[in-house]
Amino acid sequence: MSKITGNKIKNLEHQIKTAAAGPRALVDGGAGFIGSNLCGHLLAQGYEVFAVDNLITGKIKNISRYSHDQRFHFIEMDINDSEFPETFRNIKINEIYHLACPTGVPNIKKLGEEMINTCSRGTFNVMSLARAHGAGVVYSSSAEVYGQPEETPQSEHYTGNVNPIGPRSAYEEGKRFAESIIKMYADKYGLNAKIVRIFNTYGPGMSLSDQRVMPQFLQSIIRGKKLTIFGDGSQTRTFLYVSDLLSGLELVMKNGKPGEAYNIGGDNQITIKELAELMKKLTGYRLEVEFVPHFIEDHNHRQPAVSKAELLGWRQTVSLEEGLKRMIIANGVKLARPIAIRSVAKDKFTIKESLSTEPMLGAGL
Ligand SMILES: NC(=O)c1ccc[n+]([C@@H]2O[C@H](COP(=O)([O-])OP(=O)(O)OC[C@H]3O[C@@H](n4cnc5c(N)ncnc54)[C@H](O)[C@@H]3O)[C@@H](O)[C@H]2O)c1
Repeated sequence: MSKITGNKIKNLEHQIKTAAAGPRALVDGGAGFIGSNLCGHLLAQGYEVFAVDNLITGKIKNISRYSHDQRFHFIEMDINDSEFPETFRNIKINEIYHLACPTGVPNIKKLGEEMINTCSRGTFNVMSLARAHGAGVVYSSSAEVYGQPEETPQSEHYTGNVNPIGPRSAYEEGKRFAESIIKMYADKYGLNAKIVRIFNTYGPGMSLSDQRVMPQFLQSIIRGKKLTIFGDGSQTRTFLYVSDLLSGLELVMKNGKPGEAYNIGGDNQITIKELAELMKKLTGYRLEVEFVPHFIEDHNHRQPAVSKAELLGWRQTVSLEEGLKRMIIANGVKLARPIAIRSVAKDKFTIKESLSTEPMLGAGL
């Protein structure tokens, strides 16, 4: 891995020993949860990968597992910096996955300015770089572009219900504006740039300090605290395991139409209360759930219509329960031990979860 930071960023081509054999992908936001998983996925497909990140919500430890790979390069840089496109002028890039954006609902207040900047200035910079190389682009938009949806499931035709001066505006309108930049570049400059509207995605590599619901619940389980639900827990979400998202991003890069948007997400709705119960069941955790008033206006339902992505050949392959088990284990928490119980009536074995009263922590935590 080459790691380039600070004033060494200039004249990148003289400092990076590129491995010219395979295609080259640039992943901005590459040290984040999805970005770091995507870097691994692309390396496995034979790409040389350039991860660009300013570490505002990402972490170096997410990408340290690629440190021995000569085809992986990390460049610590803000994509809002006007020098960003210039930095890569002499390094031919074939594909750009534009993922950079600060995330986390509680961060909207704290990092709203950075969100808006990255979605606007940063996206212009990414597109200018893509244009210079004729690179394909996949932009990571969000289900949040639909705002407080009045129809469920949300298809790509639904234009959304977003309050431009609401509390979530910096993220929601930021993502909407970025989509319009992508669309403009596709139409005006013929760039092969498309949009993926990502619905809640989870999996290993998600930091437990992440403010999103699953890492929050897991963190509470590890610390032996009550699981906190904002609101009454009846709000529904769908969840997608990260490997299924990666295959979607890759398919849209290869086969998606320029200027078009594709929803990628899980298609089974679950309430936040049910999610808490499922995580308790899988870990054998017994503490009660607590309900507190929401600190920000929340969306009641979010569910993607995914038929457009399915036409490209995309399918969800990992169930919520299976994905959660993988995420729980990856964080060093043991699963509740299943016990085989002989059912006399059917003379078959059925599985029941064990009834542990404490969170079972694995090594390393
Ligand atoms: N995880 C989800 O469920 C989900 C849902 C919808 C959309 N998305 C989008 O997918 C993308 C990746 O999300 P994630 O879950 O991996 O979040 P994340 O916060 O882990 O990753 C985002 C990365 O972008 C980096 N970044 C932010 N601003 C930057 C800038 N100006 N220059 C360089 N790097 C910058 C951060 O440091 C971080 O590493 C984001 O754009 C997010 O909005 C994610």
